[in-house]
Amino acid sequence: KTPPMRILFAASECFPLIKTGGLADVVGALPLALEREGLDVTVFLPGFPGVLSGLSKKKTYTRLGELAGGEAKLVSGTTGTGLSVMALDAPHLFDIQGNPYLDADGRDRAGNGINFAAFARIAAALADGRIKGPGFDVLHAHDWQAGLAAAYLRSFESSVKSVLTIHNLAFQGLFPKSLMEELLLPSGYFSRDGLEYWDQVSFLKAGIAFSDHITTVSPSYALEIQSDEGGMGFGGLLRARSDDLSGILNGIDLAVWDPAADPALAHPYSDAAGKAQNKRALQEALGLRVDADAPLFTVVSRLTTQKGLDLLAGMTDALVNEGGQLALLGSGDAAIEAAFLEAAARHPTEVSVTIGYDEPLAHRLQAGADAIFIPSRFEPCGLTQLCAMRYGTVPVVGRVGGLNDTVIDASPMAVSAGAATGVQFAPVNAHMLYNAVQRTFALYRDTPSWDAMVANCFAQDVGWESSAREYRELYESL
Ligand code: ADP
Ligand code: GLC
Repeated sequence: KTPPMRILFAASECFPLIKTGGLADVVGALPLALEREGLDVTVFLPGFPGVLSGLSKKKTYTRLGELAGGEAKLVSGTTGTGLSVMALDAPHLFDIQGNPYLDADGRDRAGNGINFAAFARIAAALADGRIKGPGFDVLHAHDWQAGLAAAYLRSFESSVKSVLTIHNLAFQGLFPKSLMEELLLPSGYFSRDGLEYWDQVSFLKAGIAFSDHITTVSPSYALEIQSDEGGMGFGGLLRARSDDLSGILNGIDLAVWDPAADPALAHPYSDAAGKAQNKRALQEALGLRVDADAPLFTVVSRLTTQKGLDLLAGMTDALVNEGGQLALLGSGDAAIEAAFLEAAARHPTEVSVTIGYDEPLAHRLQAGADAIFIPSRFEPCGLTQLCAMRYGTVPVVGRVGGLNDTVIDASPMAVSAGAATGVQFAPVNAHMLYNAVQRTFALYRDTPSWDAMVANCFAQDVGWESSAREYRELYESL
């Protein structure tokens, strides 16, 4: 019997240790699904405070000596969810409070370039077996924070195979070219087919240029990023690598998102009747008018223009005038936060706005709401529509990226065929969002159609199983 393939994930976030968005969910769940596929996966993370304090069975794996201006070591441990983790314990780089990438004023942290370069270099050395242990068959790097890993593998002339997953092309890891001197990479890598991007260094471009294979998190986004419009400056580069680029849809962790056994819910449930209890509990808890018949919409999101929430902010009065309610949780752009807070002040019994980050509340919103808004202008995959469907909540989404691939629009044909799971609109603008809101109200009032949609949502397979198989086949093909 051949031993299992050994895969090293390198990423800057991992649920439940550190999370700012969907990247953490993927890195926290996919390895467990890959282990069920028979692979042996270790997740390599920067030693942020939450990572080091959240690990159990923590021990020093090996000391690294001096790394980028201070002492560093590798520590190993596991998460409560059963992941094997290796962390780069280097307090001078990663003893950071708050957002891992941004300072208190929302600007990129000054150390980002040096810190994540050191992280990627150690990932490559660990995968290549240069530090301690047998090394790994595949180094699977995620986003720009790990993007340099493939460049380091190349510089080591390593036989370890490399995969880069792009979770969001908008974050490109751009730094002044002077950083090149500190990267410990051959200077020739600063070129058009290397990591140079308009006379800057791009960590993401390094990953695109040097990895054996590139994936992104949905088939539609894999096509969109090869266009000039969706490529955000990288379209040509990605087209040039189209033979090595594929889209594999994200799933969610069905144990973390399980309405029948969710510790955040007062009323765990598995059907529409149980959902009604959670709706009532949510209206009470948020101070909303308790009304079983008022369509209750939610938003659980970063409040950014990517997510199209500026469009929704302008539509709250119309929503309330139609008899709808809105319960929002999120944080981000100050102007979008302010617009929603003003809407809540105008309609205190119909609109609830919570600015911040609150995992249990996110679960209660998914459980209690009738529908969720995700009016994204672009969306590599999106996870909240998957969580929503698992919780019997109907997604109202822009027809882009992974939202296009995971939601079946309630067209008259889909409704009569009993296949619809949500409402899609395109193009993403205020007019079409307004139109989608009107369609959603009409569907909600047509009780048989709505009930059928909710039932279809509950029945969707939103787990990782089939996508984990695709990743395994990809690793094997390399
Ligand atoms: P992105 O990664 O682009 O922000 P995703 O839909 O892929 O979007 O993933 C977002 C993840 O973050 C989901 O798990 C969602 O529940 C969670 N999330 C977003 N905002 C908040 C918040 N304010 N509080 C709690 N969870 C949040
Ligand atoms: C990014 C994308 C989101 C995706 C997540 C996980 O944050 O914005 O669409 O679901 O990564 O892949």
